[in-house]
Formats: sequence, C-alpha cells, structure tokens
Amino acid sequence: MPTVTKTQKLTEIREEARRLSQQSGSADQLMEGIVTLLNAKMLKYNWVGFYLLESTGEPMLVLGHYRGAMTPHTRIPLNQGICGAAASTGKTVVVDDVKNDSRYLACSLETKSEIVVPIFVNGKVAGELDIDSHFSAAFTPEDRELVEYCAKLVGAKLESARLDRK
Ligand code: SME
Repeated sequence: MPTVTKTQKLTEIREEARRLSQQSGSADQLMEGIVTLLNAKMLKYNWVGFYLLESTGEPMLVLGHYRGAMTPHTRIPLNQGICGAAASTGKTVVVDDVKNDSRYLACSLETKSEIVVPIFVNGKVAGELDIDSHFSAAFTPEDRELVEYCAKLVGAKLESARLDRK
C-alpha cells in the first residue's frame, strides 16, 4: 500500500473542508462538519471546537459546536486562557506544551498542546477554532495552515450570512 505523507493527508482534508463549505447552507452546518471532519481524520486533534464571540455586555467567548470530552470552559472572558489571548490579539496562538503556559485553562488532564485560530468577519474577530491534542507539539506549521484555512471558511460563511440578513 502506498504511504500517504502528512502533506498529502492535510491537502485532502483541506479539499474536504472546502467541499463542506460549498455544500453547507449555514455557518452552523459548516462548523458542525468541520469539527467532525478534523476530529475524525486527524489522530492528534483530540478536542476540536468553535467559540463564538458574544458582544452583548462583557465580551465573552461562548462554546459552540465541538467534538471531544466535555469542557468546563463554556464561556471564556477575553482576558482569560489561550482562547482569550487569541481572540483579544487577533492572532493564532500555538502552545507546544500547555503546562509551561500560565495562560492555559485546563480542559482535560490529557491535553499537552493546543492551537487557537481567530475567525474574522468583516475584519473583526467573531470567534475562534480551538484544538487540543494529547500529544506535545502536535501543531506544525502545516497543521496551522490547515486550521487557519478552516477558520477562514467559517469566517466567509458567517460574513455571507450577515450580508443576506441586510
Ligand atoms: N485551553 C483553553 C480553554 C478551552 S479548552 O481547551 C476546550 C484555554 O486555555 O483558553
């Protein structure tokens, strides 16, 4: 059997995410499809979830679609956690070893590394895609590219949904 390289696998998943985006009638459907896809196909993506930014009152990241163990962190203020750091700076955060990052809010004792990618709608942070791994340093630059691509697809879907409502 020919060996599939990680690059080939990531390319296939990227294609699948693009197809999901074309087929999804809503951002909700797309987010559900993406958490299912990434969690099922990537061995090291053990918890995959979306947080959406709620701006009524104190800005808050609210847990949406996810795959993986239940988390106590269903609402995260922007000044807390790796999730808060990514949303407040608008920058992807990759943490290779969560126990050495004082910002880290623990979800599971098994988590060793994490990536959080902001989602933009009309140039503003509207949420984020968060992935935890039971493996340390699970997120290479190639993984980061894939996760950023998925976050972009959701941002575009949310943006077009908001345009439709106008
Ligand atoms: N670890 C995150 C909290 C969310 S859980 O990973 C699902 C953080 O530090 O913000």
